[in-house]
Amino acid sequence: MAMQPWFTEAKLGIFLHWGIYAVDGTLESWAFYADEVPHDQYMRQADGFTAAGYDPKAWAELFARVGARYAVLTSRHHDGVALWDTAHGDLNVVRHTPAGRDLLGPYAEALREHGLKVGFYYSHSDWNHPLYPSVRSQGRAPWVNESRWVAPQDGAPDDEQAWQRYLDYRDAQVGELVDRFHPDLLWFDGEWERSEQQWRLAPLAERILTADPRTVLNARMLSYGDYATPEQGLPMRAPDGPWELCLTINDSWGFRQSDTNFKSVGQLVRYFAETIGLGGNLLLDVGPTAAGVIPAEQVERLEGLGAWIARHADAVWGTVAGLPAGHHYGPSTRSADGRTLYLVCFGSPGELAVKGLRTAVKRAYVLGTGAELGHRVTGGHGEVPGVTWIDGPRDADVDPHATVIAVELDGDLDLYDGQGRN
Ligand code: GLC
Repeated sequence: MAMQPWFTEAKLGIFLHWGIYAVDGTLESWAFYADEVPHDQYMRQADGFTAAGYDPKAWAELFARVGARYAVLTSRHHDGVALWDTAHGDLNVVRHTPAGRDLLGPYAEALREHGLKVGFYYSHSDWNHPLYPSVRSQGRAPWVNESRWVAPQDGAPDDEQAWQRYLDYRDAQVGELVDRFHPDLLWFDGEWERSEQQWRLAPLAERILTADPRTVLNARMLSYGDYATPEQGLPMRAPDGPWELCLTINDSWGFRQSDTNFKSVGQLVRYFAETIGLGGNLLLDVGPTAAGVIPAEQVERLEGLGAWIARHADAVWGTVAGLPAGHHYGPSTRSADGRTLYLVCFGSPGELAVKGLRTAVKRAYVLGTGAELGHRVTGGHGEVPGVTWIDGPRDADVDPHATVIAVELDGDLDLYDGQGRN
């Protein structure tokens, strides 16, 4: 199935890492894998996972308000604790935590009520499943085979039958997600521990796409993925095809009291503008507490980003990737008809110089305030265009995070990227 247009038009999604790790604020799953926290202590966090303040309608209302078009919630992380009453495997929040109920259904329903697409994160790996460490990984990083949570120990042979039963469990859980909650997107993870063949991805993809051929799959479904998922860092060039940058709002995927290194609203605006300027989506991650509440510091930042988006809606919605690097010193987007450029400027921009622009400018103005800006071209000869100068905005028209200059073109965008004339 071709990529769904809703995804490439979405621009902003919210990622939620929510699980028992929020109780003590340990690293999600990795805490016991890396022996940072003893396994039994990690698992005891289940006793404090209450979901007592879980209000998915408030989540959905917030996400819609800030301009997100979809959300992705960890239905089951590498620790194997499912957030729904799965009939498969032993670990879930219904049976093992005071939350005591399915948390996915109400989430999916609330998102849909607010017109948001429903995504679930799901880890292929389950480090708590007794059958998971039954085979060594083929063709993957060698360090993967050393962990007792991942591979047979002390020279024990691979048990291929046990591995197939593990995959049956994974497939049954994914089948439940698909049949009960009808996700628009499945965000897989943990793929690095086995080869595509070992993961048995072909029948899994078929199972998902038979239930709904429109389901969007991320690249951690390997060759069945619909889009690339660079993580925690902006690519320098746009990845091929649709893509999404996943990024934590501080330094952690899940809730950690100790992590107060929040990105500023200005930084989030910059990440967002750079991402959409390269044609991608930003999947911004928050970590709800064990009670299910998104902490105020995180909400404030989402709202700050959302306010910037609302002030600059035309530069965001319905736009595509902007100018290639070198024409304008900053990210940019382009209206779908190609007739308007949106130049993002950080700090207090002075006069702008757009290079390589062959199309004449009809009008330039500050997006949001509407202030008109003068413009003129100097130089240029033959096929080499001159520089298009655009007056800098007055202080009153400068946005605290990023000012957007809308440039209406007098024709189709025509760019020059040559080496000039001899
Ligand atoms: C990494 C981490 C995982 C996190 C994910 C989000 O794969 O293993 O903990 O959920 O990144 O992209």
